[in-house]
Amino acid sequence: MKKDLLGFAEMKPADFEEIWQRTARLKKMLKEGREHASLQGKTLGMIFDKSSTRTRISFEVGMYQLGGIALFLNSRDTQIGRGETLADSARMMSCYLNGIMIRTFAQESVEELARYASIPVINGLTDLLHPCQILADLFTIREKKGSCEGVKVAYIGDGNNIANSWIEAATCLPFELALACPEGYDPDCRIMAENKKVGKERVRLYRDPFDATRDADVLYTDVWTSMGQEAESQERKTIFTNYQINRKLLGVAKKDAIVMHCLPAHRGEEITADVIDGSQSVVIDEAENRLHVQKAILEILI
Ligand code: CP
Ligand code: NVA
Repeated sequence: MKKDLLGFAEMKPADFEEIWQRTARLKKMLKEGREHASLQGKTLGMIFDKSSTRTRISFEVGMYQLGGIALFLNSRDTQIGRGETLADSARMMSCYLNGIMIRTFAQESVEELARYASIPVINGLTDLLHPCQILADLFTIREKKGSCEGVKVAYIGDGNNIANSWIEAATCLPFELALACPEGYDPDCRIMAENKKVGKERVRLYRDPFDATRDADVLYTDVWTSMGQEAESQERKTIFTNYQINRKLLGVAKKDAIVMHCLPAHRGEEITADVIDGSQSVVIDEAENRLHVQKAILEILI
């Protein structure tokens, strides 16, 4: 049976481990200049309903480095944008391609595509989840801290797709997650409820960013306004004012805490320039790891 990557709900700790072991090997091989054309002759279709820099480049370059190719399919320029059903698109694309990566709005669209496709489907971000990002983030934490086990991650800001994927990861893996979100901007309640059921109380939600950040090993944030919410941008700037990673907040984390951001960042909003460009920031390593993790995902699924 084909495997998809739609979120972490179906994943076991061993699945994460398999991806990261392979990521480490692929990263080492690339640094040593060793070729590894494991996906020669394979084609990935990449459907984009939203903008992207990192996700697009890392999947495209990843396929190229593995000997395959990737097709950029802006849904506006395909028949999907003119109303062709996802079911027909999935069935037909399965005849041409070996895998599909999709970035879109509704999680249900990704699930529908996966239901009708006979090839693996990868979630490249929805309004609900961004699993590929959090796989790269946790890989980066392993590199910097030796392991994810027992690490405390403080997530400051909007209870969005990034926050939801962090919670799904913490439901499966033994690290501590403290989120600080303003009232009305909490993470998805079903994902929180699932965590409560099986997550061994490793996820805590606070209103005060200082409460969440105290003694954290990792300080993480994301934009206040995600793609698709542009009309709320002004209102969000007011509501999220105190949910900013700055020197003062960093001061209550552990001395050797690292600062992460999925990027793109808005300096002066969710994070100050001195912190994101400072010595504790690992955002560029984090972005680089998107490439290595993507290659591991592609190899495993395709
Ligand atoms: N972090 C992330 O997914 O970046 P892009 O939106 O540039 O792909
Ligand atoms: N939460 C952001 C993440 C971008 C990578 C968004 O959805 O726009």
